[in-house]
Amino acid sequence: MSTSPTLAAPTTLRHARILGLGGYRPERVVTNEEICRYIDSSDEWIQQRSGIVTRRFAREDESVIDMAEAASRQALDRAGLEAGQIDAILVATVSHPYQTPAAAPSLAVRLGITDPAAIDISAACAGYCYAISLANDMVRAGTADHVLVVGVEKLSDFTDKHDRGSAFIFGDGAGAAVVGVSDTPGIGPTVWGSLGDKYDAITQREAWTDLRPAMEEPGRTEAISWPSFVMQGQTVFRWAVFSMAPVAKRAMEAAGITSADLGAFVPHQANMRITDAMVKALDLPEHVPVARDIAETGNTSAASVPLAMSRMLDEGEAPHGGLALQIGFGAGLVYAAQVVVMP
Ligand SMILES: CC(C)(COP(=O)(O)OP(=O)(O)OC[C@H]1O[C@@H](n2cnc3c(N)ncnc32)[C@H](O)[C@@H]1OP(=O)(O)O)[C@@H](O)C(=O)NCCC(=O)NCCS
Repeated sequence: MSTSPTLAAPTTLRHARILGLGGYRPERVVTNEEICRYIDSSDEWIQQRSGIVTRRFAREDESVIDMAEAASRQALDRAGLEAGQIDAILVATVSHPYQTPAAAPSLAVRLGITDPAAIDISAACAGYCYAISLANDMVRAGTADHVLVVGVEKLSDFTDKHDRGSAFIFGDGAGAAVVGVSDTPGIGPTVWGSLGDKYDAITQREAWTDLRPAMEEPGRTEAISWPSFVMQGQTVFRWAVFSMAPVAKRAMEAAGITSADLGAFVPHQANMRITDAMVKALDLPEHVPVARDIAETGNTSAASVPLAMSRMLDEGEAPHGGLALQIGFGAGLVYAAQVVVMP
């Protein structure tokens, strides 16, 4: 019997870090007054209960791929890299309107990247932090030298503007990071998980396949209901407030740091009250700046963490090269947290 040859494999792990970060916010600012034209609510209620003052909505003809391209170009530029140097693309999104093919291969074509590995990741508001973890592992193991990670959403396409429980929460936008080889560790261990039994806490209302019988009804004239995203606000709120601070703490422990070492805390921008509760539970020192991008951006799911971090860096609120604790959590329910060195 012949023995199989030993497969070639990289022998040493490398370090990885975020080399550049970019963001894209659509032009159109949507006020709470505009949202309240469709729901029985008020600017005051929305601000008090969510912290959201305005959000951005993409143009009708502006796609997830358009927004991803803009954020990616900025991230590449800031990383000082040519698009051709990217060998893998991970796009975290739940609002690319095609079940298949994924957004990532089309994004590669837009950016002029020939033949990269390219996939989408469906992990809702945790998608970016999941993708950063995977990109870190890919670079460390030698699977790729430069990974483009994008979090992008056009949630306005999947929001029922008449649903009082969610119409005011969501916004559109894109954030992108280039992850590459580093001399020192730049992405700490990820603490992640999922609670699949809570799948109905935030969910597309109907499966795409549920629309089939209606579509096939002979002589049907009324509109078919759209499978918007709906959520049990209180269930999600309680889960986030009670369970996510311990996850964030574990990410700091895994990275071997304490909250005093942080240059920024960048939680998923779900609700300002969730952020406040986490800051309290983590007992964050006063000097640590906290991302509060939700006020002007709303909840952009997979795009929220990179958009919030880019804003903090651009506005000089967080230090380049400092440590940031980032955490994403959302539909699944899924979550992921890690400490990263900011580019
Ligand atoms: C959605 C959310 C802001 C609602 O806030 P809440 O404090 O939980 O509100 P409740 O659902 O308990 O409703 C409280 C009251 O406000 C009312 N209300 C609900 N939506 C309202 C709205 N849009 N405008 C005005 N009043 C509203 C309710 O009818 C209720 O009235 P009642 O006390 O007379 O019955 C909050 O639950 C939340 O942010 N959840 C997490 C959402 C999230 O993060 N989603 C993304 C996950 S990543």
